[in-house]
Amino acid sequence: MSIGINIVRLDSAESTNNFAATMAKDCLIAHGTVILAEEQTKGRGQRGNQWHAVRGENLTFSVFLKPSAFPIASQFQLTVWASVSIIEVLLEYGIQATIKWPNDVLVNEQKIAGILIENSIDQLLINEVIAGIGLNVNQLEFNGLNAVSMSNLLGGKLNKEIVLSSLLKALNDNWKKLSSKETSADLRAAYLSHLFGKDQLREFVIDGKIQNGIIRTVDDNGLLCLEVEHMPSFFDLKQVQFIFQSAS
Ligand code: BTN
Repeated sequence: MSIGINIVRLDSAESTNNFAATMAKDCLIAHGTVILAEEQTKGRGQRGNQWHAVRGENLTFSVFLKPSAFPIASQFQLTVWASVSIIEVLLEYGIQATIKWPNDVLVNEQKIAGILIENSIDQLLINEVIAGIGLNVNQLEFNGLNAVSMSNLLGGKLNKEIVLSSLLKALNDNWKKLSSKETSADLRAAYLSHLFGKDQLREFVIDGKIQNGIIRTVDDNGLLCLEVEHMPSFFDLKQVQFIFQSAS
């Protein structure tokens, strides 16, 4: 089934990722189903953070997928798939966004979308994926958070349903691309071409120390290749933090 043919619309949920997980546990959800909530009371972000969105203003949803023969070793492709899909839809609206490794979507160094991908694994294969996406559409105030919405950038109120259907189409088209080597390489190239800070000298906290580095690439395992003092090295998420001028 294509992504988004089946949409479960909720007025309120703790977290659409949690809702999808509960349905999956009870075998009540099919591949491609989208769980969408007008409001999340315990929206979750990466690294145990909360995800806040004013009721009804933004898109908060999760896509449930049941891939066949998807190796754990390829899990970074899921990040690529979701982040490139968001970037493409923003571009349709004339918004040029970047991907802050691994999967924050930024415009002018402010967060416009976040992705929380949760997998269940069986024998080195990913057999279920819950890809949670929060996209700031119409919210205007973020109470001191370093965030921005499509409406902040474009002015006026956007039709959330139109944004949703473009995003589900992009997610569906790009999901198909993951099934061939050639097209998944195209997606990866798109990811790298939108990578925030690529080939720029920036300050990072690397293994607890402030250092200058240049992002060169992200490898197939999702590790960030940072060149520090002319030496490229690969880092995971626990080892590197970006430094921004404004609070994040
Ligand atoms: C992040 O950038 O920290 C990830 C944010 C992910 C938020 C989305 S909103 C829909 C889905 N349900 C959740 O509880 N979280 C994700």
